[in-house]
Amino acid sequence: MVDSIVLTAKQNPYLLLSNIGQLLTLRGKSAPRRGSALKEIGLIEDAAVLCAGGRIAAVGEQREVLRDQWLKKNKRKVEEIDCKGRVVLPGLIDSHTHPAFVEPRLVDFEKRTSGATYEEIAAAGGGIRSSLSSVRKATRAHLADRVLAGFEGMLEQGTTTVEAKSGYGLTAKDETKSLQAIRDAAQRWPGTVVSTLLAAHVAPPEFAGKEDEYVELICREIIPQIAKQRLAGFVDVFCERGAFSLEQSEKIFAAARARGLGTRAHVCQFTASKLDRLLAHQPASLDHMDCVAAEDVSLLAQRETVATLLPGANYFLGHREFPDARRLIDSGVAVALATDYNPGTSPTPSMPFVISLACTHMKMSVAEAISASTINAACALRLETRKGSVEAGKDADLAVFDFKDYRELGYWVAWNRCERVIVGGQNEHPPRRPTTAGLQHGGTEKSELNS
Ligand code: NIG
Ligand code: FE
Repeated sequence: MVDSIVLTAKQNPYLLLSNIGQLLTLRGKSAPRRGSALKEIGLIEDAAVLCAGGRIAAVGEQREVLRDQWLKKNKRKVEEIDCKGRVVLPGLIDSHTHPAFVEPRLVDFEKRTSGATYEEIAAAGGGIRSSLSSVRKATRAHLADRVLAGFEGMLEQGTTTVEAKSGYGLTAKDETKSLQAIRDAAQRWPGTVVSTLLAAHVAPPEFAGKEDEYVELICREIIPQIAKQRLAGFVDVFCERGAFSLEQSEKIFAAARARGLGTRAHVCQFTASKLDRLLAHQPASLDHMDCVAAEDVSLLAQRETVATLLPGANYFLGHREFPDARRLIDSGVAVALATDYNPGTSPTPSMPFVISLACTHMKMSVAEAISASTINAACALRLETRKGSVEAGKDADLAVFDFKDYRELGYWVAWNRCERVIVGGQNEHPPRRPTTAGLQHGGTEKSELNS
């Protein structure tokens, strides 16, 4: 079991991580990293990090951090963790997950191992629709337990912030229950959770042939109700053949924005889709992006919208092709990586596995894959001023791995090497708008007063 330390101002105000062999700070602008900047991981050797009141207070070479006047005076108050020369990086950020499901989807899985494709199974009534009845029948408490199990699996492997979608209820009542279950689980989990409404995952069977009516229901009832109860910060849509058209997706985006919610979409997973109309709504991220047209790549390169690549789905669906990360990165698109944890296409909570896939199948360097799983993933959730790098003032979310060279994070496969996580961030539903936190050394005194 990974050791997790929850860093709250009351219980554990001061923490020093010493003897860090390699600290990956990811320091720099709190903005999406593009092109060659994606390789810049801000590596410091023989480093230390001082945390106070849930935030990072000082970072640098150990000899510099130990010279800190406040630390010298208050050494006794500070709990020290000797990292024994290991690697420390910002807590990983899984910016695309679907944890609100009850059962593994084994019947579909067996059909796929016998040769059927995901789209064939979905067209025959399986896929997302096969997860509906168990979610509709489940109590909120049972669903929350399942969500929490997913979050625990993530934390074990170094993830300290997660985006969590609904999407297996597909009625106003069951989408609400799913988001409440996500909130309940988030309150029992030390990391930070950003919730997303995905009522537009697919039209449920009762709306077969009346998909436009379901879109109306989402826009007129479900989005307003969820916004009113502050159960989600974002609205997602599966814009794909067999799910929702571009026109329907635009309607859903417009309804979300009218209620002050952010937007994101699943798009270009199986079929190409023009992106300009979705981009006009300034989505925080467009996800999957397996088949993107050349003109859309140039368009994306000029936008803040992050392209979130989900190679776990390609792996689990047995695709030979993976998202073309090199083309996107080399064209200047801001790229993130996430697990897509879900029962149909990617039943893994492991960001290190996704990093490994990105290196072996998408030709990303380990450094690029780490930036895509930290600072760029923070940008995809609009949390970049709080998360994604180890810099004074940011949330003290850190992961310690039991190896000495950060490149081992992409090298070991299906072997969890995360030995400890430090979690200082707090949950918020919906997430607070980013603010510029400015806790420098003096901030340690301030949090002492507050504790
Ligand atoms: O991201 N593509 C749409 N949604 C999920 C699949 C969900 C499911 O099959 O349950 C995905 O791959
Ligand atoms: Fe997904």
